[in-house]
Amino acid sequence: MKASYQDPSVPDYVAAHATQPDQVLRELAVETTALTGGHAGMQIAPEQGTLLTMLVQLTGAKLAVEVGTFTGYSSICIARGLVPGGKLIACDVSEEWTGVARRYWEKAGLTDRIELRLAPAQQTLEALPEDEPIDFAFIDADKPGYPGYYHELIDRLAPGGLICADNTLQGGRIADAEAGGNVPAMRAFNDLVSADPQVDSVLLPIADGLTLIRKR
Ligand SMILES: C[S@@+](CC[C@H](N)C(=O)[O-])C[C@H]1O[C@@H](n2cnc3c(N)ncnc32)[C@H](O)[C@@H]1O
Repeated sequence: MKASYQDPSVPDYVAAHATQPDQVLRELAVETTALTGGHAGMQIAPEQGTLLTMLVQLTGAKLAVEVGTFTGYSSICIARGLVPGGKLIACDVSEEWTGVARRYWEKAGLTDRIELRLAPAQQTLEALPEDEPIDFAFIDADKPGYPGYYHELIDRLAPGGLICADNTLQGGRIADAEAGGNVPAMRAFNDLVSADPQVDSVLLPIADGLTLIRKR
């Protein structure tokens, strides 16, 4: 999703000055719009994809978890940054949307690195072993679920591991204590993270807001 809280020329400029997506990601974005119409706005922005790959590489991640896969854009960006032999556990509830993701994992040559778990993500995360440290996680699903996902992930995160949470600015409405929709849930999540003594965090004003949360 693009940043709607800035002058419209700024997000376009930012997008134009990041490393551009390759052909697989470009095709996926086009097909997602054709197949899902108005839902296509759920896909992360291309410059966020570039950033996710870079962050996964910088953390040297071997095990990653994604909450909210949709048609697969962010999962491809994350899986590409993993060390050789690394694995991404991708969580979603939609067989239809992840059916598209599966095709693009194949096209991107990533099938052997991504394991799809089709179930409510809270259930999937609670069932993850507690003795296999997660190096990197991306939260981008139902907003009221974020605190629950965060608690399950932070307990399993390796020291120095990173969680990225998307849509933390809610189209620029996040500072409005009276706003409705998903804003109250996201305000509660942002408060939870910034008060957590286990982590250092920063809310980046990229796209719809991306919070980086590093476990101490
Ligand atoms: C914003 S989209 C994810 C976009 C994706 N990260 C991308 O880059 O294309 C949110 C996804 O979360 C999934 N979702 C919603 N509620 C969920 C839940 N309780 N458990 C798992 N996935 C859920 C939806 O099916 C949808 O595919």
